[in-house]
Amino acid sequence: MTTITTPADARKILRVGIAGLGRLGRRHAEALAFSTRHVELVSACSPVDAEREHARSALGVARVYADFDAFIADPDVDAVVLVTPTSLHADQTIAALKAGKHVFVEKPLALNVPDCERVLAVAEQHPDQIAMVGFVRRFDASYQNAHAAIVAGDIGRPFLVRSQTCDQNDPDGFFVRFAPTSGGIYMDCSVHDIDLARWMLGRPKALRAFASGTIALHPGLAECNDVDNGLAIVEFEGGARAVFYASRTFAHGHETTTEVIGTAGKLLVGEHAALDRVIRSDARGVGHAVLPDFHARFEGAFTREIAAFVAACRGGAPLDLTLADAMEATRIGLAITRSLHSGQVETVA
Ligand code: NAI
Repeated sequence: MTTITTPADARKILRVGIAGLGRLGRRHAEALAFSTRHVELVSACSPVDAEREHARSALGVARVYADFDAFIADPDVDAVVLVTPTSLHADQTIAALKAGKHVFVEKPLALNVPDCERVLAVAEQHPDQIAMVGFVRRFDASYQNAHAAIVAGDIGRPFLVRSQTCDQNDPDGFFVRFAPTSGGIYMDCSVHDIDLARWMLGRPKALRAFASGTIALHPGLAECNDVDNGLAIVEFEGGARAVFYASRTFAHGHETTTEVIGTAGKLLVGEHAALDRVIRSDARGVGHAVLPDFHARFEGAFTREIAAFVAACRGGAPLDLTLADAMEATRIGLAITRSLHSGQVETVA
């Protein structure tokens, strides 16, 4: 690991390796290779031949690894970006920290609390290394503006968050194949809304959760005890409440929307899922094109998120987003998931 402390050091380029070059990993890799400052994408890791070939030919990465242990043992890498299946996040983060690397790991940090605790304990032993979890919405300009308005007192005391993550229906059912390692709809999708709610409400302690869901279009999810539409209510200490909705089956496009209600006003982020600022009027009516997926909605935020990680590794301002936040999001997501399965109100423990 390179520790950057002097002005001369600050000009140094951060050498980054990426593990996982799937749906999202490819996007992070492109950002690192072509559009992030002060960084060089020097290595990549994937068990899939075609993905390693992609790293060589399309991204110009010289050192590619099929084996994760060899990847993190590379001494000429300062930081790693882990965009691997969720079930691997905790162990890979721990291994990378122990190998002396800064780590960016995609959300959620882990699928159980003991795994989160193990990561936090190892991170505490490596205080000079950055460990960041990819809650991308914290880097979206609209969510940042909303958060700043709340901190400035514009809506009084925020006490209720209603937040949804709704994906366009994928008839091929990518996420059905993904379900066995994703932790289910709440751990995979609502975990973003959970983190947002805690951030907007000032990190209150979560107490209880209740969930219900249904399978509207994808019966294959039943095998993993999952649903394609899920609702949840979470109660927080001090009276704050959150309501979450996640869907895999929207007909029109991707719609991530969050409403924060306070004692003196409310804020609404992301209404209408508009792709751009064009409104078309014709004989069929008035309308606009719609966002196709999460990446179209959060492309700018993904870029800023990776830039924030690189800046933190190079000695910039500490991140407001912590591993403890990620552990709380997992804790709440698990209570919601337990409630889906039990049909009962569950304690957030
Ligand atoms: P994916 O299945 O498309 O990609 C997973 C990648 O990991 C593949 O390239 C696969 O070859 C690689 N891989 C598997 N085992 C590996 C190992 N042992 N070592 C190294 N690489 C390995 O999945 P996707 O959609 O890209 O998701 C990856 C992660 O990103 C998940 O944890 C998911 O929750 C998260 N994600 C986050 C989003 C966000 O909004 N922040 C959006 C989409 C995904």
